[in-house]
Amino acid sequence: MARKHYHWTLGGALPKLGRHSEVKHAVLRNYLVDYFLTLVARPEQDQFRITIVDGFCGGGLYVNEDGGEAVGSPLVILEAMKEAKVKVMTTFNRQKDIHFDVQLICVDANKSALLHLRHVLEARGYGDNLRNGSIELVEGEFASLAPALIGRAKKRSPKSGRALFVLDQYGYDQVPMAALQAIFSTMKRPEVILTFYVDSLINYLSPENLKAFERKTGVTGAVTAADIDKATRGPGWRRSIQSALYEQITRKSGASFFTPFFVRPQKGHGDYWLLHLSHHWKARDVMAQTHWTHFNHFVHYAGPGLDMFSTGYATRIDDDGQPQAAFEFDDLASQSSRIALLEQIPRRIAETPEGIPVRKFFVEQANTTPATESMIEQTLLELVHDQQIEVIGDNGSVRRVRKALKDGHVLRYRRQFSLRLLDKMKP
Ligand SMILES: C[S@@+](CC[C@H](N)C(=O)[O-])C[C@H]1O[C@@H](n2cnc3c(N)ncnc32)[C@H](O)[C@@H]1O
Repeated sequence: MARKHYHWTLGGALPKLGRHSEVKHAVLRNYLVDYFLTLVARPEQDQFRITIVDGFCGGGLYVNEDGGEAVGSPLVILEAMKEAKVKVMTTFNRQKDIHFDVQLICVDANKSALLHLRHVLEARGYGDNLRNGSIELVEGEFASLAPALIGRAKKRSPKSGRALFVLDQYGYDQVPMAALQAIFSTMKRPEVILTFYVDSLINYLSPENLKAFERKTGVTGAVTAADIDKATRGPGWRRSIQSALYEQITRKSGASFFTPFFVRPQKGHGDYWLLHLSHHWKARDVMAQTHWTHFNHFVHYAGPGLDMFSTGYATRIDDDGQPQAAFEFDDLASQSSRIALLEQIPRRIAETPEGIPVRKFFVEQANTTPATESMIEQTLLELVHDQQIEVIGDNGSVRRVRKALKDGHVLRYRRQFSLRLLDKMKP
């Protein structure tokens, strides 16, 4: 089995939550707060509605590695909502109250986990929400319940089509591609945060069990028996399996945007992906921004700049058994991202000699860079200042832009060699 299972029994000892799982909760909490804030940024807005499905919700409470209490994903979601509500009022200086019309559906295949969660929620003051249905606990397997859950979320928000699915599976095979496809083909603004234990899967797969994995998940053809057979696998096998799996999961899900951050536990167990899938570039940008604001050391990305695969898809252990270098969201990463972007953006823009609108350029890069929209904009402005690229306005003439780019501004490559820029790129 891919990882240790948690057990909850009423009155029994709480399961232990590893540091790497606390990081996952912190990502979820911070993302949700930032995400709720972007949803209610208009001052005239007085409510917003969303359905959140916690598809593998667990029993609600743990002890962490320091012996302290740590809440599980349902309470992380509820607490993030409370925090966002307070921040909305203070950050935007709102006069008007705002109603968060959120339904939280918690699914778990384990009866005892749900009993425990109910107890925890009651004890923390959410009894009324359980009774009025704004929090619902559902026993069953996520994959079989998915069509009904998607139908309910859609019915609740037919116009906005907004729903969030938190899919924190134990390993890698409990969220079939069909469920992701149904989410992204049925709803207008769905988002998925999916845990995927990629290293465990690679360690587990063998030519004998490959077909069973494919049948269960719908992830077909990304890995061949020769890729995993000890006798025939080639150099770089682990990395190429990771990138093929990543490519297939994101493409098959039908999501338009994704961020492939991964968490690297300190003590063994291997990396796991924390995939964020969505249909809107803004949601992806909020997730990228969340990482830059709150995380380093534990959460990684494959490489700086615009193309993570060209810098190598990092895995915990490379083919020689050595941990590979990975990108961390720290000052060094910020500096190397800036250098990589300064070097790569002009080349990317030069690929479209007639020029490319700012928004289109950002959206086209979004899936393969850890940089946020604002980081890319700052680099673009620097390149404009260095006369590497030029900005064309609506009327076709070159614009002098210093502070902010507009979505419709067209970026065009200028064929000049800039000594100043080379100087800047020196570490
Ligand atoms: C990793 S734990 C979830 C932890 C929880 N999300 C949290 O952050 O506190 C996985 C949970 O999924 C449940 N589970 C396992 N297989 C499942 C399935 N096929 N469908 C729904 N729940 C499942 C387990 O009982 C367990 O509670």
